[in-house]
Amino acid sequence: MKKIELEAVKSLKGEINIPGDKSISHRAIMLGSLAQGESHISNFLTGEDCLSTIDCFRKMGVDIHLSDKNVSIKGNGLHSLKKPSSLLYTGNSGTTTRIISGILSGQDFETQLNGDASIMKRPMSRIIKPLKMMNARIESQLNNDCTPLTIRPSNLKSIDYVSKIASAQVKSCILLAGMYAEGKTSVTEPYLSRNHTEIMVNFFGGKIETEGTKSIITPEPILEARDIIIPGDISSAAYFIAAALITPGSEVLIKNVGINPTRDGILTVCKKMGGNIELLNVNTKNGEKTADILVKYSDLRGVTIEGDIIPLLIDELTIIAVIAMFAKGTTIIKDAAELRVKESDRIKTITTNLSKMGANITETDDGMIIEGGSKLYGAETESFNDHRIAMSIAIASLNAKGKTIINNSDCVDISYPGFFEDLKKLSL
Ligand code: S3P
Repeated sequence: MKKIELEAVKSLKGEINIPGDKSISHRAIMLGSLAQGESHISNFLTGEDCLSTIDCFRKMGVDIHLSDKNVSIKGNGLHSLKKPSSLLYTGNSGTTTRIISGILSGQDFETQLNGDASIMKRPMSRIIKPLKMMNARIESQLNNDCTPLTIRPSNLKSIDYVSKIASAQVKSCILLAGMYAEGKTSVTEPYLSRNHTEIMVNFFGGKIETEGTKSIITPEPILEARDIIIPGDISSAAYFIAAALITPGSEVLIKNVGINPTRDGILTVCKKMGGNIELLNVNTKNGEKTADILVKYSDLRGVTIEGDIIPLLIDELTIIAVIAMFAKGTTIIKDAAELRVKESDRIKTITTNLSKMGANITETDDGMIIEGGSKLYGAETESFNDHRIAMSIAIASLNAKGKTIINNSDCVDISYPGFFEDLKKLSL
């Protein structure tokens, strides 16, 4: 386990291409594996989570070739997966674990599924319950609603599921199980979550219709191989958006970032805080909107973040807490209890770390309250093996007096291999 030491910087300047989107990379492997023919993916994220997805589908007999950031997948259709000879290991990836469980529920062979110590603590009842309603034979081996999971063959029936939480992992799990069910399956969420599965199933020739926060899949789609260009991940771009906004004299151009409206809450919030952010070269690639994002140092003010915007920025809340430390006034984050069941309990882990650095930040049941304007000092901090915590602390350190240590910093490889190198390249 590596640790990194960081010092304050003068400002950040220049252009950067950030790695491909994690959510879209996972889905491209899954749907490419179930499509007929050879799909080609470019700008694939080679972070550990997405490599776990590749590994699972290879174990089920899919021919997947990865070279640099390009992937070719020879799919053989919806019913072509083979029984793996060993357990499917999903590493640290909640997205792989939850979405693949839906696909596995529709197979005519038994699978066992497990991940690392963090995955083994994350709640799986949110997928076990609806999958069982579909007749799936999915069991938590330790009867604790967590992994390891066993999934046995069954005849799936369609359901109209009304979910209590807005979660794209849950929604995607049910919709992809719905490909194997008799009749149309729908998922209705309290608020809209990211819609990459809907976009990509339709792009591959399947059919998911949406009505507000309800998504409806038509079963037995004939998916056909496609070429997919993965946009840069806005969740990774968020660290550099933050760095430029809070570091005096900064100006950074982040190229080719996915700005799907179900992911762009970070842009809405930063603009509301007074952030100088411009979108250039707006485009659409395989159904996903992209843009270059130009960010300049800005005078920021505190805001309240709550309700239906939360799922649109769920992975950005720890870096938003960092931005809030540099804003005038109070920032309140509410309705974000989901943060407690991510790779770490992010409400606790970000509050603990930023408090150590001198921030005025208070933990609440479902969020945080941050008073801007405290002077920050370097400190010894922990990533808690959570990539987003490590990267958020790194950005806070750019404006802290003295040295910041981040223990176990190599977990950034989960979603952003090369993060510290890119940060160094932009730093003056
Ligand atoms: C993801 C959905 C979100 C997000 C995760 C990726 C996805 O999780 O936090 O990083 O790709 O579907 P939830 O569905 O649990 O909100």
